[in-house]
Amino acid sequence: MTAWHDDTVRAAFPALALVDEGVARLYADAPGGTQVCGRTIERMREAMVDHCANEGGVFRTSRATDDWMTRVHAAAAEFFNADADEVVFGLNTTSLVFHFSRMMARTWQPGDNILVTRMDHDSNIGPWMLAAAERGVDVRFLDFDPLTFRYRYDTLGTLVDARTRLIACNHASNFLGTINDVQAIVSAGRAVGAMTVVDAVQSAAHMALDARAIGCDILSTSPYKYFGPHAGVMYVRRDFADALVPPLKVRPSPMTMPHRHAPGTPSFEAQLGTYGCFEHVAWLGEQMGGAAVGSSLRDRMVAGFAAATVHETALSCRFLAGVAALPHVTVHGITDPAQVHDRVPTFSFSVRNVAPQAVAERFAARNQYVWAGSFYAMEAAMRLGVWDSGVVRFGLAHYNTAAEVDALLETLDGLR
Ligand SMILES: Cc1ncc(COP(=O)(O)O)c(C=O)c1O
Repeated sequence: MTAWHDDTVRAAFPALALVDEGVARLYADAPGGTQVCGRTIERMREAMVDHCANEGGVFRTSRATDDWMTRVHAAAAEFFNADADEVVFGLNTTSLVFHFSRMMARTWQPGDNILVTRMDHDSNIGPWMLAAAERGVDVRFLDFDPLTFRYRYDTLGTLVDARTRLIACNHASNFLGTINDVQAIVSAGRAVGAMTVVDAVQSAAHMALDARAIGCDILSTSPYKYFGPHAGVMYVRRDFADALVPPLKVRPSPMTMPHRHAPGTPSFEAQLGTYGCFEHVAWLGEQMGGAAVGSSLRDRMVAGFAAATVHETALSCRFLAGVAALPHVTVHGITDPAQVHDRVPTFSFSVRNVAPQAVAERFAARNQYVWAGSFYAMEAAMRLGVWDSGVVRFGLAHYNTAAEVDALLETLDGLR
């Protein structure tokens, strides 16, 4: 591992240099959507200028689109540790989940049950509840402990049975920040033949994903949460995807992947933009993670995420140490520095006697961007009794700095 260098990393994100009326921007809004890396912007420009054409033609620009689709799917496969025909691009995670839920629920019968969680973003709960209602299937919830902010893994044995058709859970929480043991949850589902869906939208910016190791049928991500364009990209296990018959596609489009499960013309610019994210993380691996320039894309991405994790962990510890000295702030998530490896740098909190919206506005007045609300993590907010009030959320990414954490803490201190 080579030394981390903030300026080098930050120079890779054009938006980080912007200044408004002499005040620099402080982006602490990453869980809502990160800033976009320069490589993504270059690739999107390339898609829209150098070879802007639909796929499948005989002329130069269309041929280039075909080549790029192949290249992008192969790179996404390395990102997921999967095969290229297990990658599906779409508009965003929510619409992809709705799309697949329609096919997956076809075989569900009254008397069956599905298991969703109290921690997920509603995109991994709501679509399944709607499908369950249509099929007359019971919906069960995997709870989390409101003191430890971890799933009640001990209840899986009673919640999952021979009639469980689906388990949907999240890899990292966009509200609590907890990183979950999704392997344990997925294997409980696989043991009874249930379909398994893991939402990796929040984890994807912070760690290398490994769909094979997790063992799920579907793993979802949204590139705008990891330095790229607005889009959704999923891993869908090959055998699982093939068994969804008939696929939801129009007749003339090919039965082969990726077309089989990605109906309509894709956003080629978003696909290339996502490729730019992979290039960025691989570059990070070379610059800061000690990866050899000639090593595989996956190896370089794994090294890039490992380097980012070291940096982000230091930022998390700095924030947690600072906030521990602020008695008017209650963090809704893991705060023990010894457990910092079990969380992403996403921190929801309440400020005594100040409404979340007012807190966010105080930050905004200093050009510091933080979120207020519940971020569609409706079940988690209700479980913690903060659905009506909402919370404030900071979310950091590898482009944030220790000085920025200090500046956020200073604003927070001023709200005593
Ligand atoms: C954990 C998580 N899952 C899913 C989503 C929804 O993603 P999309 O906007 O791509 O539908 C979000 C968005 O905030 C999220 O944070």
